[in-house]
Amino acid sequence: MLLRPEQRAKLDSGKDSEFYSFPRFVTHADKQFLDRLTHLYRKLLQPQTRVLDLMSSWVSHLPEELEFERVEGHGMNEEELAKNPRLDRYFVRDLNENPQLPLADSEFDAVLIAVSVQYLQYPDAVFHEIGRVLKPGGLAIASFSNRMFYQKAIAAWREGTELSRVELVKQYFRSVPGFGEPQAIIHRSDVSPLLQMLGIGASDPFYAVAARWQDMGDGNKAQEQS
Ligand SMILES: C[S@@+](CC[C@H](N)C(=O)[O-])C[C@H]1O[C@@H](n2cnc3c(N)ncnc32)[C@H](O)[C@@H]1O
Repeated sequence: MLLRPEQRAKLDSGKDSEFYSFPRFVTHADKQFLDRLTHLYRKLLQPQTRVLDLMSSWVSHLPEELEFERVEGHGMNEEELAKNPRLDRYFVRDLNENPQLPLADSEFDAVLIAVSVQYLQYPDAVFHEIGRVLKPGGLAIASFSNRMFYQKAIAAWREGTELSRVELVKQYFRSVPGFGEPQAIIHRSDVSPLLQMLGIGASDPFYAVAARWQDMGDGNKAQEQS
C-alpha cells in the first residue's frame, strides 16, 4: 500500500460531493503560478492531441493558441465545468468514492491535474487509471503550489513540507508500473521570508511532476527546455 489509512485521512471527513456542491468561481493560485503552468503546457503538449483535464473547474490553464483534437474534463461541480471554455465534454465523479475513470484504454495523449492532487485519498488507484487511459508515450502532469483546502487535503500532504510533497507525487507515479521516471519542475521565489510575510515580491511557489506512460527512453522524458 502506498499510503497507510491514517495518511489518507482528511480533517473534514464529510462527503466531498457536499463540499463541492456549490460552484467556486475563483482561481486557486496567483497569476505568476498560472502563467508558469500555461507555459509548461505550451512546451510539453502537442497540438491536435487528446487531453484529459482531471480535477478541473471553470478555468482552463491550456494555452489559448493551442488547438487540441479533444479536451475532456472531469471535476466535482457541474456548473463550474459547464463554464470551462476549453472542455469539449466532461464528467463529474468523486474519485475518493470511485477512482475508476469512465474512459477507454489508451485514449489520451496527456492527462493533467492542476492544484488538486492533494485531495486524492487513493492516489495509487487514480494514477493507475491515468496510466490506463494514456496512450503509450503519453504524458501526465500534476502541478501544485502551497495552497489547499486544508480540511480536505490528506494527512500525508498536510504534514509534509513543500519538497516532501514533490517526492510524494513522484511516489504516486512510481507506484504504477509503466510510468517512466517522474521529473520535477520547480520554481520557488527567492524573496526573503520577511518580504514574503509583508506580501512584497512573493509569488506562489510552482511545483509540477511529470511522467510518461511506457517511457520510450531518454529522448522521450518529460523535461522543461527553458
Ligand atoms: C482547488 S480546485 C482546482 C480546480 C482546477 N484544477 C483549477 O486549476 O482551477 C480542486 C479540484 O479538485 C477536484 N476534486 C476535489 N476533491 C475531489 C474528489 N474527491 N474527486 C474528484 N475530484 C475532486 C475538484 O474538481 C476541485 O475543483
